[in-house]
Amino acid sequence: MDELLRPEGIAAAAAIIIAVVAVFSIIIHTFINGISPMPSSWKARRAIAAILAGEMKTGSIAELGSGWGTLLPVLSRKLPQCAITGFENSPVPFLFSRLLLLCMRRKQIRVIFGSFYETPLAPYDAVVCYLYPGAMEKLKLKFTRELESGSLIISNTFAVPGWEPERTVVLNDFFRSPVYVYRMGPGNSGNTLFIG
Ligand SMILES: C[S@@+](CC[C@H](N)C(=O)[O-])C[C@H]1O[C@@H](n2cnc3c(N)ncnc32)[C@H](O)[C@@H]1O
Repeated sequence: MDELLRPEGIAAAAAIIIAVVAVFSIIIHTFINGISPMPSSWKARRAIAAILAGEMKTGSIAELGSGWGTLLPVLSRKLPQCAITGFENSPVPFLFSRLLLLCMRRKQIRVIFGSFYETPLAPYDAVVCYLYPGAMEKLKLKFTRELESGSLIISNTFAVPGWEPERTVVLNDFFRSPVYVYRMGPGNSGNTLFIG
């Protein structure tokens, strides 16, 4: 008992409590959101950044559900002139991503705490996401109402239901994961690229 009351004991107990609270927070928000904060693979991050860099040099990009923030630095390296905003509503990944950005000192990136359903998308030239089918269904309406004609939607793995992608990049990974590229407005056509 005496050992627990020593500074080392108190620090160890505090660390355990923080770790348990953090794990519970992640589990609870995974249930609320319907998706865990699992990051995009390295291949997906590289492919998304390459697609965007091929489409735009300046402008603003929103990442809907930015998780631990691991896609943001990849985007910022490829798109140094773009303003990049991540939205995340799970506190632990959000705080981690803030810490990551603090270390990187990139002024072009910010991460906002809150639900992306509550944020207007009209100011963004491109949105990026890695979510799940139910979220894509809900976002479809939001994209239609809020995104300007010509805006890009890049979705890792999950398609916007009922929409024809302008193109689909198939990753050279075990699952042959698709990255869907949509452009708001008329004139979509589908073709498939392979990226290693
Ligand atoms: C599979 S992770 C993808 C993380 C990151 N975009 C990436 O590609 O590495 C999905 C993230 O979306 C977040 N999310 C889900 N619904 C959200 C909402 N309504 N508002 C903000 N974030 C949300 C989750 O908390 C999770 O961190």
